[in-house]
Amino acid sequence: MSAFPSTRLRRLRRTAALRRSFTETRLHPAALVLPVFVKEGLDDPEPVGSMPGVLQHTIASATDVARQARDVGVGGMLLFGIPAAKDALGSSGWDPAGPVPTAARAIRDAVGDGLVVWADVCQCEYTDHGHCGPLRDDGLVDNDAAVELYVRDALAYADAGVDLVAPSGMMDGQVAAIRRGLDAADHGDVGIVAYAAKYASAFYGPFREAAESGMVGGDRASHQMDPGNRREAVLELGLDAAEGADVLMVKPAMPYLDVLADARRNLDVPLAAYQVSGEYAMLRAAAERGWLDGDAAMREAVTSIHRAGADVVLTYAALELARNAS
Ligand code: PBG
Repeated sequence: MSAFPSTRLRRLRRTAALRRSFTETRLHPAALVLPVFVKEGLDDPEPVGSMPGVLQHTIASATDVARQARDVGVGGMLLFGIPAAKDALGSSGWDPAGPVPTAARAIRDAVGDGLVVWADVCQCEYTDHGHCGPLRDDGLVDNDAAVELYVRDALAYADAGVDLVAPSGMMDGQVAAIRRGLDAADHGDVGIVAYAAKYASAFYGPFREAAESGMVGGDRASHQMDPGNRREAVLELGLDAAEGADVLMVKPAMPYLDVLADARRNLDVPLAAYQVSGEYAMLRAAAERGWLDGDAAMREAVTSIHRAGADVVLTYAALELARNAS
């Protein structure tokens, strides 16, 4: 390439039409997935204080959101359940009448295959102690016992008709066990999205209010990744791919764009990234104070995640991003 003055990169930035023609990354609604919280026993949707615009849903309101999402071309919806009753094992997680299977059936009835239905698989919303599986005497999550319960959850969600199950508990071996369980139960068509590089992040704070999954003591540092680790993410992603994951996820998204870019460079598998509750809440809070143009900042944040290598982005702003897609 010749230098200035024959080369002027500003030429292709002069008008909106020029910029639109040569943009490298477009946010198509189909690349967005909307996480949704469904709470058992709710009469009306309930706002989540720390996530402006996000609600805990009834089955009916979640189904309505599914119709809206389908109508504006959003790619999919990720279901989280908040059960009426919790216990030490989190047994409501695999209850076929629980919030996720019930919502999945209602959504499938309403939108057919017009939307990809994802279900998060973890015990933290279902245990009375808020941890991701049964606890050992030393207070850490029992890896292999938790994995057995994730298989039960995944089967209940597959029976209810979800397209994809997304194990988020960061237990070793969870993807292989779920794949075996699904295949043995004739659910070979149900895919697995592995939360493969999931960090022990402070950015999940607002989610724990939304999903009512706050912990009674302890943290998740003995299973989620250390935020300082970049090379280890390549190991985690590679292992989950080898265990049979169909899609690999990096989470959180914007503070981990280097991890996402590494994943894109190292692996030719579909990649997802999750713009988590804290990322969403920061932007919304600053916008509420008039400190940021909220819509523009949200679009830029999600575009950056897509640009760094995510084929699909999970974002609580999926509906408004899709509605405003040009
Ligand atoms: C676990 C799960 C969490 C999130 C998604 N799945 C919480 C955690 O690991 O503590 C966080 C999502 C968000 O913050 O938006 N079921």
